[in-house]
Amino acid sequence: MDEAARIAELRQSLGRFIQAYFVDDQPEVSDAVYDSLMRELTELESRHPELYDRDSPSQRVGGGARADFRAVQHEPPLLSLANAMDPDELLSFDRRVAQTAGAGLAGGVGPYVVEPKIDGLTVVLHYADGRLRLGATRGDGQTGEDVTPNLLAIEAVPKELAPGAPARLEVRGEVFLPVASFEALNRQREAEERPLFQNPRNAAAGSLRQQDPRVTASRGLSLFCYEIRGGATPGRQSEALELLAGWGLPVNPVRWLCAGIEDVVAVTEAFAPERERLAYAVDGLVVKLDDLVLSRQLGSTQKAPRAQIAFKFPADEAATTLLGIEVQVGRTGALTPTAVLTPVRLAGTTVQRASLHNEDLIRQKDIRIGDLVRVRKAGEIIPEVIGIVPADGHDARPPYAFPTVCPVCGAEAVREEGEAVRRCSNPSCPAKLREWLLHLGSRAALDIDGLGPRTVDLLLEAGLVHEPEDLFRLNASELENLPRLGMKSAAKLLAELAAARTRPLDRLLVALGIPHVGERSAQALAERFGDLDAVAAASTDQLAEVAGIGATTAQEIARFMSGPVGQRLLGSLQELGFQPEGPAREVTGPLAGEIVVFTGRLTRPRGEAQALARSCGAAVETDITRRTTLVVVGEEAGQKLDKALSLGIRTMTDEEFGALTNTGERKGLT
Ligand code: IVH
Repeated sequence: MDEAARIAELRQSLGRFIQAYFVDDQPEVSDAVYDSLMRELTELESRHPELYDRDSPSQRVGGGARADFRAVQHEPPLLSLANAMDPDELLSFDRRVAQTAGAGLAGGVGPYVVEPKIDGLTVVLHYADGRLRLGATRGDGQTGEDVTPNLLAIEAVPKELAPGAPARLEVRGEVFLPVASFEALNRQREAEERPLFQNPRNAAAGSLRQQDPRVTASRGLSLFCYEIRGGATPGRQSEALELLAGWGLPVNPVRWLCAGIEDVVAVTEAFAPERERLAYAVDGLVVKLDDLVLSRQLGSTQKAPRAQIAFKFPADEAATTLLGIEVQVGRTGALTPTAVLTPVRLAGTTVQRASLHNEDLIRQKDIRIGDLVRVRKAGEIIPEVIGIVPADGHDARPPYAFPTVCPVCGAEAVREEGEAVRRCSNPSCPAKLREWLLHLGSRAALDIDGLGPRTVDLLLEAGLVHEPEDLFRLNASELENLPRLGMKSAAKLLAELAAARTRPLDRLLVALGIPHVGERSAQALAERFGDLDAVAAASTDQLAEVAGIGATTAQEIARFMSGPVGQRLLGSLQELGFQPEGPAREVTGPLAGEIVVFTGRLTRPRGEAQALARSCGAAVETDITRRTTLVVVGEEAGQKLDKALSLGIRTMTDEEFGALTNTGERKGLT
């Protein structure tokens, strides 16, 4: 879509959202979505001055008045505020102010007053001879609605001013619903099965614009005033706030006087996490040049004063166009859809891709390529698409058809009964292997530094790795011959691969890539079973008995261990000398601290002897090294015995080993 068409589309959608929000008090989209669309429109319009339109939603302030209230003309019109979305935009606001104010001030102006931006609705109060005569909503900035009886019904709105107030006074303030009242109101509405208010602003607007002031009175609305529109012309905003308070008008006690814009930035940072604790909803901070004389000189654009700006906290939701859907194949063959988006600012970062979860979400929300979608980012979590923004054109686009074949190897992608995901049915799908290798090298698994996507792709392209265990069969010459790897990286990778063989058992279990087996369950398995063979030998029931392992996971483990891939892998690991360390626990027993190697023919099966040694606190190894502390010698022992003797390692006979492990005494150790 070209930019002109996009501008037209945005103007139309935003026009509708504004009507729904400001006039009907029934928003169709969240504030964050509205803001992000408005921002996109403003940006596009600034690139296309030839498309300027006085009636564009970007040029209007708010919504318009409802026909059932008497109209009030605002003179001068009520302006809105420009937004700053990050510290850089605050700095450029400061520079603009300094430049407009005069070259002498370049390098910063100030001080600034910073006030919480309360998420309510603007009202204008007219007092004459100390009494409230007229109160109006903002409307479209020019024409508002007369809501005097309703304002009179709000306890926080002074009906009379304190002595000393000007004979005629016009003030601007914000009517809002404290969070607690908002929640109570919604609880009540829920009980009455009436539609809930989406946010406190909405609830405040709905409560103020009532035909019956008694309803307004019952809602617990409140008020903060922040601007003198007529009756007095203080020289400073800080002074204005004090005057207002002195005349008995409610003024927010939370505010800061900042020497310069750097201090303002510091306030925005310090306040962001604090705002949740306030009794009312705050969607940003308003930064105002304290010097009102200079502010008046600077004047305003069609929409907003030049000397004030609203700093908006990073929104966790935005709207943007869904350009396409990429389907990736994971380690377990699961097909996962990812949204490719027109870049959009979200919670302080630019987002171009987001999770679409699974095919059901796409179908349930009827998400189609080309739609305007709602994207959310909560905390550290990767951004996700949560639905679409109703907009024209959706019906004309074809519904999205989720692939039924693997996008990588073309094999059938099957969705089993009760499963949310569709999986590639090809056991040797190259995408699965690639993801498995990446998983295997990840921190939570074998933590193989240097086994990132680039190296994995090189290894796969060169045909050096067909199964995960092939990694551990790589040799220096193979790696050094790889184009684009380099000798140093090759040597480092080999060292990392060697070190990976002795990673703790739980890490190895994670590396196996069994569905549902993550760090926690792997730890529990390692603690319960002690070694890989024992996990492999465990029945589904035994596995399911382990804390944190459910029936499904137990089945997956058993299925993997007895299946062809698992069997092959287990064999390979043994052959490759994998010796995962057991879980770190306090070792006790007659062989505590010993590193034992068995050699020769023993009186019991070797596995049993090894298990016995472990149960007595020893670590068991297959080869004699300098670390070995004890060699148990059976009949016809050969080279290993020679090596043990030559290295001066203690030995004991199989019988001695039996006696020791039976009696628990350390006698017989020579
Ligand atoms: S000053 C010329 N101060 O934010 C505009 N506005 O996006 C003067 N708001 O329409 C506005 N708290 O409804 C100002 N402390 C505050 C505010 C505040 C909330 C609202 C107000 C305004 C909107 C601007």
